[in-house]
Amino acid sequence: MATSRISGFRDLTVDQRRDAVAEVAGIDVTELDAFDAAGFSVDAASHMSENVIGTFSLPIGVAANLTVNGRDVLVPMVTEEASVVAAASNGARMARTLGGFHTSSTGPIMQAQIQVVDVVDPSAARLRILEARHELMELAAEQDPKLAEVGGGVKDLIVRTVESVDETYVVAHLVVDVRDAMGANAVNTMAEAVADRIAEIARGRVVLRILTNKADLRLARARAVLDAESLGGAKVVDDIVHAYRLAAADPYRAATHNKGIMNGISAVVLATGNDTRAVEAGAHSHAVGPDGRYTSLSTFEKDADGNIVATLELPMPVGLVGGATKTHAGARAAVAITGVQTAAELAELVTAVGLAQNIAALRVLASEGVQRGHMSLHAKNIAIAVGATSDEIGPLVATLIAEKAFRHDRAEAVLAEIRGAG
Ligand code: MEV
Repeated sequence: MATSRISGFRDLTVDQRRDAVAEVAGIDVTELDAFDAAGFSVDAASHMSENVIGTFSLPIGVAANLTVNGRDVLVPMVTEEASVVAAASNGARMARTLGGFHTSSTGPIMQAQIQVVDVVDPSAARLRILEARHELMELAAEQDPKLAEVGGGVKDLIVRTVESVDETYVVAHLVVDVRDAMGANAVNTMAEAVADRIAEIARGRVVLRILTNKADLRLARARAVLDAESLGGAKVVDDIVHAYRLAAADPYRAATHNKGIMNGISAVVLATGNDTRAVEAGAHSHAVGPDGRYTSLSTFEKDADGNIVATLELPMPVGLVGGATKTHAGARAAVAITGVQTAAELAELVTAVGLAQNIAALRVLASEGVQRGHMSLHAKNIAIAVGATSDEIGPLVATLIAEKAFRHDRAEAVLAEIRGAG
């Protein structure tokens, strides 16, 4: 079986990395040409958005070491933030010692809301709509017969009453299995199709007909056990648990803790051409517990052997059909690298990466802190900003770190010295 542990991966050239990735992923290396500037033309871009004036590039890197349900997988990640890909690889390596990530997910169930206003008798209207449940579900299903052919389709109709400032809204939810799609288009079309009939039954007026991004019926989960010894021993374990507990108890820390998780999640979601904002909105909504308080998306516990068990569960509305996933050559190549065959597999993989990222962050925060690694990356950015060439970056960064001088003026002076000596 191909391994996601590629020795010396970061020291390879870009071409060598592409060869290694193609070999592990079992794909032709030319598929990775999609990541060249020519892989996504301005013409293609002009069909994807509006008022297009060009394209905007970001690095795509590949995280190594990940094992998900016993399968090794390489993870394409698009991010502007240095250290995210390295951290995902580190977190995956920590989880790997005791078997990697174990994942699961609900079905790919999305919901659309139909809001009815001006209803005189909201409780009775709710029941009238439910009495017409079959008729309404059939009307919705007619909009997308293909979905039922592939095992998805309309699964339920739920009706809620929602108290607002000065009236009670009747809100119907269409519950739809969208299979390998992200599903927004499918459920929005259905919601619009049933809206008039729902208004008629409720004897009110429909305003909103749109999916909910609180995709709490489309959850993905990941779990990993982290060996105490390899983490650095009992003190690091206890401090990782302390770090988690602060996130669980304090929204100020939870926001940063969850941002670390999203560093991994958004990068894979973007690389695969999926909707980062939908996934982020789902995550925000899920980070609010039943008590209404914003909290950690993940958990970290010490198990009976003194190891850490980390878990993550959140909505993961990602698809493999439709949208940029199919039309963007880079997104297609990214999906090919992962080898996933279904949206559910992709959702679980993304969740495992989010947890790997979170594990790496807590491990480093509970030991040496992030600043050492960050400052060397910062020094590199400064070196590039003052115009250092590839040959000059190494010595310039080394001097800035040795002097703890992370300033542009000092970088310019050192660069001049390097050039003078050369
Ligand atoms: C930085 O992008 C992410 C971290 O702040 C996450 C965390 O604090 O858990 C390192």
